[in-house]
Amino acid sequence: MVINNQLPITNYPLPIRMKILFLDQSGKPGGAELCLLDIVKPYRDRCLVGLFADGGFKDLLQQHEIPVQVLTGRSLQVSKDSGLLQGASSLGQLLPLITRVAKIAREYDIIYANTQKALVVGAIASLLSRRPLVYHLHDILSTEHFSRTNLRLAVTLANRASLVIANSQASQKAFLAAGGNPKLVRVVYNGFAPQLYRQENSVAQTRQELGLEGKFVVGHFSRLAPWKGQHVLLDALTQCPPEVTAIFVGDALFGEQDYKQQLHQQVAELGLEQRVQFLGFRSDVVSLMTACDLVAHTSIAAEPFGRVIVEAMLCGRPVVASQAGGAVELVETGKTGWLVPPGDAQKLAEIINTCRQQSEMASAIAHQAQISASQRFELNEINRQIERLLAGVGSRESGVGSREESDKEDKGEF
Ligand code: UDP
Ligand code: GLC
Repeated sequence: MVINNQLPITNYPLPIRMKILFLDQSGKPGGAELCLLDIVKPYRDRCLVGLFADGGFKDLLQQHEIPVQVLTGRSLQVSKDSGLLQGASSLGQLLPLITRVAKIAREYDIIYANTQKALVVGAIASLLSRRPLVYHLHDILSTEHFSRTNLRLAVTLANRASLVIANSQASQKAFLAAGGNPKLVRVVYNGFAPQLYRQENSVAQTRQELGLEGKFVVGHFSRLAPWKGQHVLLDALTQCPPEVTAIFVGDALFGEQDYKQQLHQQVAELGLEQRVQFLGFRSDVVSLMTACDLVAHTSIAAEPFGRVIVEAMLCGRPVVASQAGGAVELVETGKTGWLVPPGDAQKLAEIINTCRQQSEMASAIAHQAQISASQRFELNEINRQIERLLAGVGSRESGVGSREESDKEDKGEF
C-alpha cells in the first residue's frame, strides 16, 4: 500500500464509459459537496447525483448542468453522537430511501457515496442492486469527531466498499486506526482549477465595499462551527494592533446557531465591534480571499483536508493554519505558509503580527505556495487519478456485478 498522494494506479484500460450514481446527504454546499461538484463534472452525461436534502447544493449542480435528484423529502437523523438505539431507528427511517436508491442504482455501474449517511444508504443499496460501492471519505474517523457507535458503523460499512478514497493521509490514517481495511483505501487530495483563483484586479473594489481600506485584513472562510475555531481568531485579535481587522465568511450550515450566537457575544465582550465583520455564506470567496492580507484557518480539531487552505494559496495570499490533520500535509511552515498549534491564540497573533510587519516576506511565501498548490492540486490531474481508480473498480467488477450482466440476471436470463 502506498500512503502518499502518488497512487499505485492499475493498468486498467481507459476510458471506461461507466455510469455513476453519486450520493450525498447534504442539500448545502459544504467542502465535501464542493469537492464532489468538481469530481462529477466529467461524468455529467452519464451520472446522477442523488441528494438526501434540498438546498443550495442542488442549485449549484443544476447551474453546472449536472443531473440531480433530491431522493427524499424527510431530513435524516444519523447524528454524530447518536447511540446504537438511535442508529437502529434511523435505519428504519432510511428504508424507503434505500429501496429507492437500490432501484435507481440498477441503471448505473457504480454507487459513489460522498458522505456518511450516503455510505449507510449506499452500502445497503449496493448489496440489493449488486453494484460496487465507492466511498469518498471526507472525515477523520476518530472519537474527536464521532461517537463510537457511528465510528463502528462507518468503518464496518466502508469495509464493504470496493474502494475508499481518503481526502488526506490524515483521514486515511484515522480510517486504518479505526479498523479500516488497508487494501481498500487510496489517498486523493481535493482538486482545484488554479485559473479560477486569479482575481487580483478586484481587490480595491472589494476592500472599498467592505470599508477595509488601510486595514490589515485577516480572512476566515469556514462554516461557523465550534471545531472550526473562529473564537480563536477573535482572541488573537485582542493581541494585535487596532488596524488588524477580521472578516468571517461562512454561516452555521449544519445547525450550529448557538455557536454563532456565542461568537457575536464574544465580539461584544472583547469590544471588537469595529474590527470584525460576519459576512455570512458567500459564493464570491475568491474575490474576498484576494482582498485579504492573510487567511487564517483555526480548526481546534484535526481538519480532514481543509479546502480553504489550498484556496488561499491559489489566490496568492499568505495562510496560517492549525497544525493538525490534513492541514499538515498542505502547509510547510515557513515555506508555503505557517502552522500554529490548534487553539493557540497567542501563536496565531504572533504570525499575524509577523505578516503585518514583514509584508514582503509574507508575499514571497504566498507566491511560493501559489506555485506549489497550482501543481499539487491541479483539478484535471486529480480527476484523472479518480477516473483511474474508478476504472479499476469497474474492471474488477465486470462480469460479476456489471450493469449488463446483472440486468440479465434480474430478467432471469441466466
Ligand atoms: N465556502 C464558501 N462560502 C462561504 C464559506 C466557505 O463557498 O461562505 C467554501 C470554501 O471556499 C471551501 C468550502 O466552503 O471551498 C469549505 O471547505 P473546507 O474543506 O475548508 O471545510 P468544510 O466546511 O468542508 O469542513
Ligand atoms: C470535509 C472536511 C474538510 C475537507 C472537505 C473536502 O468537509 O471537513 O476538511 O476539506 O471535506 O474533502
